[in-house]
Amino acid sequence: MKELEERIRREGAILSETVLKVDSFLNHQVDTELALATGREFARVFGDEKITKVLTIEASGIQFAMAAGIALGVPFVYAKKKKAVTQSDKLYVAPVHSFTRGETYQVSVDQRYLNAGDRVLIVDDFLATGAALVGLVDIVRESGAELVGVGCIIEKSFQEGRGLLEAKGVRIHSLARIASMKPGEVHFIEETGN
Ligand code: G4P
Ligand code: NA
Ligand code: NA
Repeated sequence: MKELEERIRREGAILSETVLKVDSFLNHQVDTELALATGREFARVFGDEKITKVLTIEASGIQFAMAAGIALGVPFVYAKKKKAVTQSDKLYVAPVHSFTRGETYQVSVDQRYLNAGDRVLIVDDFLATGAALVGLVDIVRESGAELVGVGCIIEKSFQEGRGLLEAKGVRIHSLARIASMKPGEVHFIEETGN
């Protein structure tokens, strides 16, 4: 998505060769028009898939899952990172190891909101190590729902996430794919096909 690449070039702060800060339009302040446009783009790319539900993980995937849900005319569900007392006991649960925090946490989805008849698109802001997304893929498969694919806003293609998901047979579409970056410089992979 050209518009997204331009914003990353203009406003992204490259803190190191691996960390990109996009707090002015994606992760802290959110450009609502851009977020809605990402949803329309995912709806276009995955439009023939008869998607019934969009799935993400709290917190920063939520606005993009909502945008995709609006564009597709379906609900979205966000996986929770901690079991809360108000949740029912019937949960799909997957462990996620966070490399950045060096700890493992549980992600969970109430079984009422994901069913064998669903056709699911997973959406998230970043595809990095892929840890959280692999957990979501496992939850979809445990539920018996059909996984249509994974849509990411920004993929850091030099990290292992894409490879991990592809090894699980998952279709991935990222709206901006970063081949490499360093302060003051970002290189994108050109979009191909879909
Ligand atoms: P992931 O690829 O499965 O997301 O896992 P990883 O452990 O690599 O990333 C940990 C968190 O950092 C994730 O958010 C992820 O979205 C975010 N992240 C990874 N790389 C970048 C980056 O370059 N820039 C920014 N801004 N974020 C990055 P999270 O901990 O799941 O939480 P939340 O922020 O969604 O609440
Ligand atoms: Na995220
Ligand atoms: Na994040």
